[in-house]
Amino acid sequence: MPTDSGPAQAAAELVGVTKRFGPVVANDGIDLAIARGEIHAVVGENGAGKSTLMSILYGMHRPDAGHVLRNGSRIRLRSPADAITHGLGMVHQRFRLFPELTVAENVVIGAEPARRGALDLAAARLEVERLGELYGLRADPLAEVGRLPVGVRQRVEILKALYRRAEVLILDEPTAVLTPGEAARLFDVLRTVTETGVSVVLVTHKLTEVLSASDRVTVLRHGRVTGSFVTAETTADELVVAMIGRSLGTSQAPSRTSSRASAEPYALEVRNLTVRDRDGVLRLSGVSFGVRPGEIVGLAGVAGSGQRELADTVTGLRPPGPGDSGEVLLSGEPVRRGREPGVAYVPEDRHGRGTAPAMSLAENLAMGDHRSPQLRGRIGLSGRAVRDRAKSLVERFSIRAASVGDPISTLSGGNAQKAVLARELSRRTPVIVVEEPTQGVDVGAQEQIHALLLEARDRGQAVLLQSSELAELRALADRVLVMYEGRVVAEIPGDEAGDERLGAAMTGAES
Ligand SMILES: Nc1ncnc2c1ncn2[C@@H]1O[C@H](COP(=O)(O)OP(=O)(O)OP(=O)(O)O)[C@@H](O)[C@H]1O
Ligand SMILES: [Mg+2]
Repeated sequence: MPTDSGPAQAAAELVGVTKRFGPVVANDGIDLAIARGEIHAVVGENGAGKSTLMSILYGMHRPDAGHVLRNGSRIRLRSPADAITHGLGMVHQRFRLFPELTVAENVVIGAEPARRGALDLAAARLEVERLGELYGLRADPLAEVGRLPVGVRQRVEILKALYRRAEVLILDEPTAVLTPGEAARLFDVLRTVTETGVSVVLVTHKLTEVLSASDRVTVLRHGRVTGSFVTAETTADELVVAMIGRSLGTSQAPSRTSSRASAEPYALEVRNLTVRDRDGVLRLSGVSFGVRPGEIVGLAGVAGSGQRELADTVTGLRPPGPGDSGEVLLSGEPVRRGREPGVAYVPEDRHGRGTAPAMSLAENLAMGDHRSPQLRGRIGLSGRAVRDRAKSLVERFSIRAASVGDPISTLSGGNAQKAVLARELSRRTPVIVVEEPTQGVDVGAQEQIHALLLEARDRGQAVLLQSSELAELRALADRVLVMYEGRVVAEIPGDEAGDERLGAAMTGAES
């Protein structure tokens, strides 16, 4: 018999859901009820089964056991189209929008208002304006999506789901791609949306977001529910224990202040670098700095301030163009084009540049190492050596994967990130360029990755670290360079890099 607080009231409910991928049990008898109008956070370690559970709720995977209820009735989800019919919507992390179409066109595409058989753009535009007004989701209906910042594109994805009358909105790590300001605006929107009775399922690794934005939290570990909390009655520490089985280390050794960088010559030096894009627009303007062996130099800046172009030039990935000038030196020698072997690189876009998705985890871990004598067989790479080395990296970096022979695309997001870091850090190059090292990574692994970067520094590697997490820069960097409109506008010692000072410099107020 249904009770007041019982499952009959849930907007959506997963009951006894089990999902296996070969030998991996990604979801193991999971029960999860999403109440009407709540923000329900789902957290857990990398590989805990969060994305798998969300894809079952959105009809992308079929469970091996268990089922989904909507408003108390059992539904069959054979595809995302079924899910949409049942009022379930998903905001994908890799947006599925058409960049050359307008906001209004993207919102209505596939479900267009038609007038006498033709697409009624005026009606679409009005509808986008109405929804935008209703939910505080401001986006110019006539703007071309490809030209919009990431935060606004995400709003278009949300509008698209609401236009299809979603009553349960699933967001898998929505803030991983957002600046702190954009993330704050997203949570304002989610609040407004839930006030109209829509439910939100929010997958995230950021416990501060969970604590400030959600109503309830479910914790997954190794495919099972290990905790279920009312947010107002829990703490970060309690969540961490449910997630990883222990509290986080209180002392972060080795500590940032033990940097040994001295008056040694620079391992990486950038001199008066000026770079223009294909349209001749200035992207970097007279940038000069150096990173010494045994030093971590942080790079802060709002997206598009030149960090991308700087990393591309330093790693040798970007061929010099006609409008470019200045120098990049590695231990005094000009950087090589193509891929500079003396620079390890952990790119922000691990799916695109970081990995070859169709290749195995072992092959991905060996990429860039084909000249290494240890991995060579008689012809090409030795399969055995590649596998053995992969196994040792998997162990050392606690990468969770069923087998090193599986395609890397089957790893969870955070585990793929750890694989890229493992490969690049283990190359022991004089210089490492790291972008967003803990994006999408669980709290236990964040701690581990920070320790690994400090270890690399203490071994004498020179680390250039770009991060949008200001706390991360503070915890790791000896100095933070702030970029604004293609220039370095401030250099702040790591221990003085407070949010306010960094924020002021990042918005050009301190230049
Ligand atoms: N298509 C697939 N084929 C094989 N294994 C898979 C597939 N999808 C997921 N897995 C495995 O299922 C487990 C759970 O993965 P899932 O992506 O759900 O984790 P997650 O909690 O979202 O992790 P993260 O925080 O890193 O994104 C992992 O061990 C993963 O390797
Ligand atoms: Mg995931």
